[in-house]
Amino acid sequence: MNFQRNDFPTGFLFGAATAAYQIEGHQFGGAGSTHWDTFAAGPGNVVRAENGALACDHYHRFAEDLDLTRDAGMDAYRFSTSWARVMPDGRNVNPEGLDFYDGLVDAMLERGLQPFQTLYHWELPSALADKGGWANRDTCAYFGDFTDVITDRIGDRVASIATINEPWCVAYLSHFLGHHAPGLRDIRAASRAMHHILLAHGTALARLRDKGMSNCGIVLNFDHTEPNDADPDATQAAATTDAIFNRWFIEAITKGSYPTEALEGFAPHMPENWQDDMELISQPIDSLGVNYYTRHMVSADQGAVWPHAVSEDGPGDKTQMGWEIYPDGLRSFLSRLAHDYVGELPIYVTENGMAWNDHVKDGVVDDQTRIRFIDDHLAATRHAITDGVNVRGFFYWSLLDNYEWAFGYEKRFGLIHVDFETLKRTPKASYHALKSAIAR
Ligand code: FCB
Repeated sequence: MNFQRNDFPTGFLFGAATAAYQIEGHQFGGAGSTHWDTFAAGPGNVVRAENGALACDHYHRFAEDLDLTRDAGMDAYRFSTSWARVMPDGRNVNPEGLDFYDGLVDAMLERGLQPFQTLYHWELPSALADKGGWANRDTCAYFGDFTDVITDRIGDRVASIATINEPWCVAYLSHFLGHHAPGLRDIRAASRAMHHILLAHGTALARLRDKGMSNCGIVLNFDHTEPNDADPDATQAAATTDAIFNRWFIEAITKGSYPTEALEGFAPHMPENWQDDMELISQPIDSLGVNYYTRHMVSADQGAVWPHAVSEDGPGDKTQMGWEIYPDGLRSFLSRLAHDYVGELPIYVTENGMAWNDHVKDGVVDDQTRIRFIDDHLAATRHAITDGVNVRGFFYWSLLDNYEWAFGYEKRFGLIHVDFETLKRTPKASYHALKSAIAR
């Protein structure tokens, strides 16, 4: 890598991120069924219908995984606490689930890793999906109860709490595009989910404040969006796409309003009196998590349903996901967010990474493309800091190869290779490169 730890401000945190369902093994420890278990069992939803029942078996191997995180010289570890593990039916507590996260947080602290918790990284209990999941307003209050239960147990030891991971994926990708659980393609369900996921954030944040927590925020994903050509319709389509993807959530949180370009499609289907919730949704946060992966080019398609837009991957080199590698997008988002929305508020890059078809050969995974990827995105982060943006840390997605949702186990994002037959962990060349760069 072309950087060293001391190229970043003192106290800048380097870490890696994971999420419960993607690594733990949800069949263990009394966890309840989640909507991902049932979505995966539906026809054609997930590659080879794979699910998170075993995943990386982190439930039993977390000590080894956290040893590897510490040995890489990392400062922090981002993880999620599965609602369905802690409350298998979404309402009643599973003591084993709480014990697991209690031990996990202690294991991080024993290794000098700051625990960065995410409350919801998509592990919705099936019993709540039965009642309409995020299309149902009641789910927000239940989420508040889950927030209370898990915070009472581990809130004294976590360094940071993000309420929701990537609300765009929870709402739009899952209820309008149908690619993630629950796999709906329904504008009414999507409009409700777009609002309720923010109401859940506001509800959880209020519960956290009641407990005196002062290290709270949310993790949003951003996708660099450009018109594909000079056609004014493409400009319009890109603006609407940008409003739905990049502006909806951050504007609601920082300004208490939704962008008009996006409301144009959602307004007729929004829950009644949604305006009354905007005050709760726009309570101050303490930090913002930014997930950034790629750029999309947008064309107009008047024949398609609103938002009359088609997005394609940008023209540059692609990862195993087919996503364009576009580090400039990260720099520009960090600056745009500071300038338009959050000012001096601390920002963490909570996810950035790439999938590659990695193989172990003679005990080595030589992932040079990933080394360049990380280097370039950390350079973009550094530039944003030089531009005056208050970026406080960077978490690589992901620590381990894991369950990549609708893509099953096929897409490898990890710094550490996982053999899904034997569950053997093999740190990749990128792990070693990052380790030397951030060594003290
Ligand atoms: C993000 C998710 C994360 C992982 C990466 C590749 O959208 O937060 O769980 O799937 O993408």
